[in-house]
Amino acid sequence: MTDSRAIDPAHFRQVLAHLPTGVAVIAAHGPDGPIGMAANSVTSVSLDPPLVLFCPARTSTTWPELRAVGRFCINVMAGHHEEVTRRFAAKDTDRFAGVAYADRATGPALADALAWIECEIEDEHEAGDHTIVVARVVAMEAASQGHEPLVFFRGAYGSFRPPDADRA
Ligand SMILES: Cc1cc2nc3c(=O)[nH]c(=O)nc-3n(C[C@H](O)[C@H](O)[C@H](O)COP(=O)(O)O)c2cc1C
Repeated sequence: MTDSRAIDPAHFRQVLAHLPTGVAVIAAHGPDGPIGMAANSVTSVSLDPPLVLFCPARTSTTWPELRAVGRFCINVMAGHHEEVTRRFAAKDTDRFAGVAYADRATGPALADALAWIECEIEDEHEAGDHTIVVARVVAMEAASQGHEPLVFFRGAYGSFRPPDADRA
């Protein structure tokens, strides 16, 4: 085993990249238009009250904007959303250009997402170079059927075919 005090950041990234995750776009109505960022750190936390979390980097410039709004819509991305997702991680670009969405109370709901989780920020915990943001779910909806999820694994995008996909 490696000495935990000497974990190299690149090694940390490389090993954690073996944990497959879903991918979301956290989106809100900013004062000058829609704002959003890609995140694969979304996790379910609590049923009662209904809480989820995500972890923005302390270097994120979008997180302070989301924080100022106080509420956001978590869009769970589908397998065909790779290019859209890349856009939401890119700098110096209009992330919403050409992206279809509907306005919901908490933020933009991207077209063809797998689920929309509407949240209000409840709490924040500093955690190293990231912040753990705990958010209360105020509304939520899952697409009834259709697309496969976008999966992030070892730094690359893929998808997952549910066992019952043929019956959907
Ligand atoms: C698949 C994927 C997952 C990401 N997950 C996170 C995350 O959980 N937290 C985070 O701060 N950034 C995450 N990022 C990076 C941000 O999307 C991006 O670096 C950030 O939005 C940079 O712009 P900003 O300064 O506008 O925040 C992820 C990027 C990708 C492509």
